[in-house]
Amino acid sequence: MKYDIRTMPCDRVLVSPSLLAADFWNLEREVSCVSQAGADMLHLDVMDGHLVPNISFGVPVIKALRKYSELLFDTHLMISHPKKYARAFADAGSDHLTFHLESEDDVSETIKEIRSCGCTVGISIKPATPAEAVFPWLDKIDMVLVMTVEPGFGGQSFMADMMNKLAAVKREIRRRALPVKLQTDGGIDEKTVRTVAANGSNVVVAGTAVFRHPEGMACAVEKLHQASQLLDSEL
Ligand code: DX5
Ligand code: ZN
Repeated sequence: MKYDIRTMPCDRVLVSPSLLAADFWNLEREVSCVSQAGADMLHLDVMDGHLVPNISFGVPVIKALRKYSELLFDTHLMISHPKKYARAFADAGSDHLTFHLESEDDVSETIKEIRSCGCTVGISIKPATPAEAVFPWLDKIDMVLVMTVEPGFGGQSFMADMMNKLAAVKREIRRRALPVKLQTDGGIDEKTVRTVAANGSNVVVAGTAVFRHPEGMACAVEKLHQASQLLDSEL
């Protein structure tokens, strides 16, 4: 594993562009451009048509991209059986695996399986899942992902009503002084990034706002990075 999410800075906003919004005809070019644009990692959205109402891409695509990218692969498993497939996604080249608390596999066993594959671990919660649901797992994982849209599709509107939940997760991480990063995903652009950063998110996923920015990816990533100023120094 070349990069490790645990050693990446937590006092600035890290940008994880979601490949879902890329031009799939030119994936090699898109991945190389986003890397040159200053992305901190690459967000890979895997959907099984069961946990979420859509199907995206899977192991072979990630494996193929691994040859062309030096970025940390931040794989978001929107699948019902993350424990069963963790090893396949790790072997394909993922550095980090985030799975959903709402999936069907045992949470503790899924965390152990991901660790045994050599990946760092994240747990994601959908909009209807309360902050407290993730608290029992905070000392066993490296990142929490608070969804700011209903997972399944790119290009949806940001749910500002998730900010209380985001702040509640941040408070708990801070209260227990845990080295857990806080990611947000869905509808994040140069405006909404300010809201998530102000509420403690230090890793932001952005698909549409990066891959389809009218002024180019470098400009998009720079604008998202600027929200680092809003993270307070204790974070
Ligand atoms: C939604 C995915 C997101 C999505 C974000 O299910 O998890 O990562 O691609 O796309 P935007 O940034 O366009 O909302
Ligand atoms: Zn995602």
